[in-house]
Amino acid sequence: MTAVLLQDAVRTTAARATALPRVVGAELTVPLVDGTRVRYCDLDSAASAPALEAVAAHVAEVLPYYGSVHRGAGWTSRVCTSLVESARADVARFVRARPDDCVVFTRNTTDALGLLARAVPGPVVTLDLEHHATLLAWRDGEHRVVRAARTITATLDALRAELAARPDAALVAVTGASNVTGELLPVARIVEIAHAAGARVCVDAAQLAPHRRVDLAGWGANYVALSGHKLYAPYGAGALVGRRDWLDAAEPHVAGGGAVRAVTVEDGRAGTAWLPAPQRHEGGTPNVLGAAALGAACRALDPIVDDVVPAHERELAARLHAGLARVPGLRVLSCFATDPGEAADRTATVSFVLDDLPSGLVAAALSAEHGIGVRDGRFCAHPLLERLTGGRDAVRVSLGLRTTADDVDRLVTALNRLVRRGPEWTYAIVGGRWSPTPDPRPADPFGLGETAGPAGCDR
Ligand SMILES: Cc1ncc(COP(=O)(O)O)c(C=O)c1O
Repeated sequence: MTAVLLQDAVRTTAARATALPRVVGAELTVPLVDGTRVRYCDLDSAASAPALEAVAAHVAEVLPYYGSVHRGAGWTSRVCTSLVESARADVARFVRARPDDCVVFTRNTTDALGLLARAVPGPVVTLDLEHHATLLAWRDGEHRVVRAARTITATLDALRAELAARPDAALVAVTGASNVTGELLPVARIVEIAHAAGARVCVDAAQLAPHRRVDLAGWGANYVALSGHKLYAPYGAGALVGRRDWLDAAEPHVAGGGAVRAVTVEDGRAGTAWLPAPQRHEGGTPNVLGAAALGAACRALDPIVDDVVPAHERELAARLHAGLARVPGLRVLSCFATDPGEAADRTATVSFVLDDLPSGLVAAALSAEHGIGVRDGRFCAHPLLERLTGGRDAVRVSLGLRTTADDVDRLVTALNRLVRRGPEWTYAIVGGRWSPTPDPRPADPFGLGETAGPAGCDR
């Protein structure tokens, strides 16, 4: 009986693996400080995910047709216009938009929220667990931050109380899934609370869309913001999707050619008749390849995001949690204690701290000695980290379509070794980051000249 169950499980896992779309770079090898190379173990897809092969192939396929969009008379202009507009329809379908919702292409989620901040006609309420993109988008003095409580139910009560005290609130902006802990927020319940108080809801789906269904219409939410580079389409496009009225009434997000019907100059002043959304907010030449890539990713993920993707990630997340539980001195971070009778659901993003090792050192050693890429820091969620770790940096591991059981096992083995033996190379803080010293790994495989990134940003 056990053997039959095991065979079934193996068969299910194998069938799921076949259904998972392939990503570019799955076989990439990276150098270690000891001079060897290993297959890269990418556990940082919450920051940026690799391209799906289907996305990269679509971009290569359309590249010869690349031309000016919307305004050109040539054939390639017609093709590119059609590519952008069909990608708009793909995004709308993927997030289950209503027929009269509007899809505006943006650079990323931050940009999408910046656009909404121009359009929102009143105060905005957020939770303190948000990514800085959702915490910082709004105008000063028009934004209230509600402190999340220990349980989701208590947090919803706090939100309800804040909205009751501020009947002029126009919008609640909330993440669909925490970029730190992977915990899912109950979007439909938040929509109910906000709508009862007369406020709209924007869901920051940067961390939700790659892992679970975004269901704008089903939730009854008003807006959703997402990033292509987290959705296996790293070609520089994101989107804001939602109700048209605020977007039509707002000042253009990016003013310029393509956003206007007509421009006049009288008495030394330019007069403009702005187009409605989405064109109103998409001034200048659009990122055709970014839009096409995002559309292709949506087409590839749409049939599998309800079942195959979450099943793959849940299986790996269970393996990861079981493995982390065996690492001495490791504490996994959570925003919420589970409400009685409710099972906590999470994406496969997990952050943790280790008792005796700085997180930056752990991340540097995982990369330098084991070829494992994770993120360390406070993940652009400083208020949340203040609450969960007293402001101490943490390590974040995020699994995705490319992750295998072997990747999870490599991480757990490496962490155990690191905790038991300590780092096996020398490290020091260089330019504010833990780094191997010396670091013999060449970081410039293209021969372009290695340059450091800017110092001091809000990791
Ligand atoms: C929850 C969340 N919201 C917003 C963002 C911002 O996304 P982007 O940098 O693509 O604008 C991120 C990025 O990590 C995120 O995790």
